[in-house]
Amino acid sequence: MVDANEGRVYVRRRGRMTAAQVRAVETLWDRYVVDPGDDRVAIDGIYPREAPLGLEIGFGMGRELAEWAREAPDWNLLGIEVYRPGIGALLNACDTTGIENVRVVDGDAVSFLKRLGDEVVNEVRVLFPDPWPKKRHHRRRLVNASFLDVLARVLVPDGEVLVATDWQPYADEIAFVFEDHAAFRGERRDHVEAAHSRLTPFERKGLAAGHTVSDFRFRRIG
Ligand SMILES: C[S@@+](CC[C@H](N)C(=O)[O-])C[C@H]1O[C@@H](n2cnc3c(N)ncnc32)[C@H](O)[C@@H]1O
Repeated sequence: MVDANEGRVYVRRRGRMTAAQVRAVETLWDRYVVDPGDDRVAIDGIYPREAPLGLEIGFGMGRELAEWAREAPDWNLLGIEVYRPGIGALLNACDTTGIENVRVVDGDAVSFLKRLGDEVVNEVRVLFPDPWPKKRHHRRRLVNASFLDVLARVLVPDGEVLVATDWQPYADEIAFVFEDHAAFRGERRDHVEAAHSRLTPFERKGLAAGHTVSDFRFRRIG
């Protein structure tokens, strides 16, 4: 799919769905998945209460987002993903474990973020974005200067961005674009062993392949 504004491309992977994921999509869609429409997004129309807002972009199978929801029941969380089996898996997890504070957008994160108001998001997580290793595919990478411009606008002052990758050329590019951006200050931590007990599927694969994982935590400065 092509973003008409910037020629940026994202790929909607099909992937086989399990019977449980199909069932979840059929029965739980209306409860958790929001249709943001084509205009400005009104966050207060999405949740039944006012609360800090956290976004996870590209949540994959959704385990990290479900954990975040359990740890932060007083936050409103929004997962944005284009991978239908992952959406099904997350809907299942929300339903079976009674998670109420998560909503899902089935679509491109960048076009969603562009339609959000100013200073409405408290934290954004981007865990193991597709690395697009081939040079001719680098323009597909999610984390770049124009993505940071959008994050800087939608984050509240002091709002946080967490990014992780196991692809070192991408890690160096991420470090560069954050350090080069006037709106962010933060740090990078590299590790070759699990630095915490919760690993996403892509983090597990990267460490098993002997890759260094880089964790970034940046704050939007005032
Ligand atoms: C490499 S996977 C990582 C999944 C998960 N975060 C993990 O660590 O296991 C990247 C995910 O980002 C999703 N994705 C890629 N571009 C996206 C976009 N523009 N908007 C929303 N999701 C996107 C993909 O569908 C995929 O599930």
